[in-house]
Amino acid sequence: MIDGHSLCAQLDALARISSQPDGLTRLVMSAEHRKANDLVASWMRAAGMQVHEDAIGNIIGRYEGLQPDAPALIVGSHLDSVRNAGRFDGPLGVVAAITGVASLQQAGERLPHALEVIGFCDEEGTRFGATMLGSRAVAGTFDSATLALRDDEGISLAEAMWGFGLEPAAIGKAKRLSPEVLGYLELHIEQGPVLESLGLPCAAVTAINGATRLAVTLTGTAGHAGTVPMAGRHDALCAAATCVLAVEETAKAVGLVATVGRLEVHDAAINVIPGDVHFTIDLRAARDEARLAALAALDAHMRAVCSARGVGIAITKLHELAATPCAPQIIAAIDQACSKLGLASHHLASGAGHDGMAMAELCPIGMIFLRCKGGISHHPDESITAADAGLGASLLLEVMRAPGLTGFKATSHNL
Ligand code: GLV
Ligand code: MN
Ligand code: MN
Repeated sequence: MIDGHSLCAQLDALARISSQPDGLTRLVMSAEHRKANDLVASWMRAAGMQVHEDAIGNIIGRYEGLQPDAPALIVGSHLDSVRNAGRFDGPLGVVAAITGVASLQQAGERLPHALEVIGFCDEEGTRFGATMLGSRAVAGTFDSATLALRDDEGISLAEAMWGFGLEPAAIGKAKRLSPEVLGYLELHIEQGPVLESLGLPCAAVTAINGATRLAVTLTGTAGHAGTVPMAGRHDALCAAATCVLAVEETAKAVGLVATVGRLEVHDAAINVIPGDVHFTIDLRAARDEARLAALAALDAHMRAVCSARGVGIAITKLHELAATPCAPQIIAAIDQACSKLGLASHHLASGAGHDGMAMAELCPIGMIFLRCKGGISHHPDESITAADAGLGASLLLEVMRAPGLTGFKATSHNL
């Protein structure tokens, strides 16, 4: 078994790379992104990998197989975070993959296929709202319209890339070709309570739920809080409040999950009727038809609310990815690796989004979930034990070296 203590010490070192002095926040194309890439690159080199940063800012280490230039299994996760994040969501999958390669190097072991460990630059979408910038670029599905999105300081993604030392027009160079990639594999904390409640350390992921993210702008009429009669108001925040509750009601009514995670009143003041309100909607479901039907119903409902209140509404789609099945052959390889390590194998669907959703456009994907304390994630209290970290990395390594891996692609892609 891989020692989870040194792996956790590496995760602690990464967690110290933060723009927030008393917590963890690491955004794409920031000074912290640069420092995290540099630290991870040093660990990759120490594990015997050739390292480069690609055209979107992903950090990639390659460990050749028995034959040079053999197709690669890509293994990894993301290095960006939400604001005030936990330290395991993302970095666990990167550091565990590097630890696995380091074990191969120490044993002088080469596999029939190459391994590439990747630290994706942006899975969360915290800075620009659009998610999976790194994995979309690798899969060749990066939407260049994304370059115009702006962060809270008004800096566009294109400008942020320039500042990071990257050329936006060159993003196409990050795209990988299908024949060079066998599959994508990721170890991630479960981010939910199921494994802990079952007393199981890990599971193979069966599929990742589909997701849509929207930005909504409501434009009413600002005015004096003391003088404008209630009957004549076009209060954008009252309209937004009704829409926010409609998001919750729609989700509950059709059995999916939907969240308004941000809401801002522009030029807000205690004595001013809100005239300009922005909020976001994040809506997810296992079945794409259910997600699309809920979105259509919500769209109609919010437009009716705003029309009745004389408030304008503009809805922009920031992100959309369909529900993504994991490849049966990779699920089977995870099950076999569990049995080899004496672990019960269990299957779970993922409610959270992952880079595999974008990578599935390029190759078969698979994921291992590791139990986390109380199911808490996207929060500083996110926690796993060192023993589980070592176990997760050992399981990942077993799947990375699984016999027959080179046959994944022929049989599983697009199933
Ligand atoms: C990523 O963590 C997401 O599911 O939002
Ligand atoms: Mn996350
Ligand atoms: Mn994650």
